[in-house]
Amino acid sequence: MEIRPAVPSGLAAMWEIFQEVIVTGDTLPFPVDFDRGTFQSHWFGAQATYLAVDGSDVLGMYKYGANYPGPGSHVASATYLVRPAAQGRGIGRALVEDSLARARSDGYRAMQFNYVVSSNVAAVELYRKLGFAVVGTLPGAFRHRQFGLVDAYVMYRFLQPQGAAGA
Ligand SMILES: CC(C)(COP(=O)(O)OP(=O)(O)OC[C@H]1O[C@@H](n2cnc3c(N)ncnc32)[C@H](O)[C@@H]1OP(=O)(O)O)[C@@H](O)C(=O)NCCC(=O)NCCS
Repeated sequence: MEIRPAVPSGLAAMWEIFQEVIVTGDTLPFPVDFDRGTFQSHWFGAQATYLAVDGSDVLGMYKYGANYPGPGSHVASATYLVRPAAQGRGIGRALVEDSLARARSDGYRAMQFNYVVSSNVAAVELYRKLGFAVVGTLPGAFRHRQFGLVDAYVMYRFLQPQGAAGA
């Protein structure tokens, strides 16, 4: 498995993964009838996108960039998706680690996840293991198909040794 920049020819596989993830799990705040054109603009827009590939198979992906522009642009954010059939094999960890290394070398001071569904144990545990802390809880922010209203977390970790100091 290798992680490499996404190219437009990967769009079909990426769209397939997105749809599979949305249909099979209550993990992301997107509806099952999410529009392909909007997906494309999100994943080939301002942020950089990377794919986990094994030969010609696309197994996962992430996009990453500044969480906010201007005065917020020293904090990165990212979104990760692993094809459901390939989950639990270390691909998610590899993607998050890759994005952290990239964000660090790009000079970001921290990484923030704005909306981690609290019942998404795989994501919450993975992020905790990689040094993220829950810094905020959005009460009942996500409507889970089985559990009803569940919390969403804001998760955060510093990337540079100086932490919160400086501008
Ligand atoms: C969250 C996601 C990216 C994780 O990717 P993955 O390939 O399944 O995860 P990995 O196999 O790399 O596991 C990473 C770690 O999380 C832990 N983990 C994974 N699933 C877990 C679960 N259900 N319960 C507890 N821990 C779990 C593993 O133990 C592993 O720890 P280790 O690396 O120390 O062994 C993936 O499940 C996914 O795409 N989910 C749907 C989309 C999503 O939720 N994206 C994130 C939105 S915030």
